[in-house]
Amino acid sequence: MMSVEELDARYIINTYGRTKERTLFLERGEGAYVWDDQGKRYLDLVGGLAVNLLGHCHPAVVEAVCNQARELIHVSNLYYTRPQAELARVLVENSAGERAFFANSGAEANEAALKLARKYHHPGRYKVITAVNSFHGRTLATVTATGQEKYHQGFEPLPAGFSYGRFNDLASFEELVDGETAAIMIEPVQGEGGIYVAEEAFIRGLRELCDREGLLLIFDEVQCGLGRTGKLWAYEHWGVKPDLLTTAKGLGGGMPIGVLLAGSKVAETFQPGNHASTFGGNPVACRAALAVLEIILQENFLDEVQEKSALFMNGLEKLASSFSGRVKETRGLGMMAALELAVPLAVPAQRGCQEKGLLVNAIGERILRFLPPLNVTGEELEQALAILEEVLAGLL
Ligand SMILES: Cc1ncc(COP(=O)(O)O)c(C=O)c1O
Repeated sequence: MMSVEELDARYIINTYGRTKERTLFLERGEGAYVWDDQGKRYLDLVGGLAVNLLGHCHPAVVEAVCNQARELIHVSNLYYTRPQAELARVLVENSAGERAFFANSGAEANEAALKLARKYHHPGRYKVITAVNSFHGRTLATVTATGQEKYHQGFEPLPAGFSYGRFNDLASFEELVDGETAAIMIEPVQGEGGIYVAEEAFIRGLRELCDREGLLLIFDEVQCGLGRTGKLWAYEHWGVKPDLLTTAKGLGGGMPIGVLLAGSKVAETFQPGNHASTFGGNPVACRAALAVLEIILQENFLDEVQEKSALFMNGLEKLASSFSGRVKETRGLGMMAALELAVPLAVPAQRGCQEKGLLVNAIGERILRFLPPLNVTGEELEQALAILEEVLAGLL
């Protein structure tokens, strides 16, 4: 029998660069931990890249998935199902949105937002301004919305109408607005780009700019939404509401789901036949999402996230000052944090942590990203900081 590594190399298109030498083979997860095929345990601060909000295999999510799978796994959107309708209610009652469109991923939720913004302004306005260093997905439109050239290369010609302002530089967005601009789209906290938090004046200024010019403001909270930053939605930190809001990643507790939330006036632009998804709003994914939200919306849950985040951020800052000169800075909000090294050693640091039983994510050569589950314990965070300190001490 071929090994998993051999099967992967032989049969899977190589978009992830996995190699037998470098890539872990994970078999099991529970809470903040995963185990590899050798039975070694790792504290997981990658969390499926911000998906596992409640850690691995949370009992409430497992129960919701199993129960729903026994009742009804999938039917077409030609029919009503209760989990989808209830999930829309819970999301709308707890967000700036008034109507939901369900998709299966972040890219699809953003694609829906871009299409809705164009249709709302049709004909005439179609352009969308996004931020340099943003990440919005890998479909042709969302990869074009992504303000990183490296992801565009080889896919030209790209869909028309996208331009890029500098994050936290309001004037750079103002300069790009013209009579054909339909929307501005940003991540309130840039995730994949390296954890950059929006400044209040910037995000408020974008809201004012959109109101003044009649543009739609789209917040991509695919990564930073759903309690990740210590508030249910990142935009709550600044009290600035979007016209369109997208989220995905953590919503389904590991099940694939994405959603676009919009105000009713804008949402009415979509009429039957304008947009659709075969799997969008699938009953199993929606039941899982209802279980996730029930926990996140519990009183005090997010207060505790903020307390634990303060502990972790303080720990990171202490680490940074003890390695002063070799660590450039720490950044973050809630359970979304980064440590930027002054030297290009992020990949060896990631590897060193892995050897010592801690999973962290290197972004490029200098940034380490941490995405702990929201229900991580203080002790687990202390343990992560201790391993990180040991690894950095050996490297820097
Ligand atoms: C902010 C943001 N938007 C969109 C996406 C794309 O989501 P998906 O990979 O589910 O399509 C990501 C993924 O990293 C993201 O971080």
